Amino acid sequence: MRKAGIIGSAAGIALLSTAVVAQVTPPTAEVMAAGATAFSRNCAVCHGAEGGGGAGPQLAGNPITASTLGVVQIIINGYLNHGMPPFGHLSDDVIASIASYIRNSWGNSHGEVTPALVAEIRQSLAAAGPGE
Ligand code: HEC
Repeated sequence: MRKAGIIGSAAGIALLSTAVVAQVTPPTAEVMAAGATAFSRNCAVCHGAEGGGGAGPQLAGNPITASTLGVVQIIINGYLNHGMPPFGHLSDDVIASIASYIRNSWGNSHGEVTPALVAEIRQSLAAAGPGE
């Protein structure tokens, strides 16, 4: 029963990521401002104030920022054994603003991420159980 749930949610994530590729609405100035603040508080120490990288990889021009799922998933789960802590304690609103900010700054232009989408991805990840 649990196995079927895992497979079901993996398929859900795949569908979600396909749907998301088409989404290119630019974030509002308000979302960008909130994202800038949250990014400087939580992320800039490792990824650089201008997304140029440091202890973490450069985000400016980084192709992973094109993937809504990739970005939201790494913010929620982190990548602990590679040195990135999880930020799943942040609200859907804050995660959405950070994801929107890094996807639309420093030459990146990949559209907004809504809090509703973060909530959906969070649910799929929780249903899939702990990853690596
Ligand atoms: C303590 C340092 C640290 C902090 C703080 C941090 N990260 Fe990271 N981040 C990393 C490292 C190290 C990696 C590389 C993991 C790997 O090897 O794949 C990474 C990877 C990433 C990636 C994937 C990049 C790629 O090329 O695969 C994204 C996106 C990302 N971080 C976004 C964020 C965001 C957004 C925040 C703030 C909410 C944040 N990070 C906070 C260290 C950090």
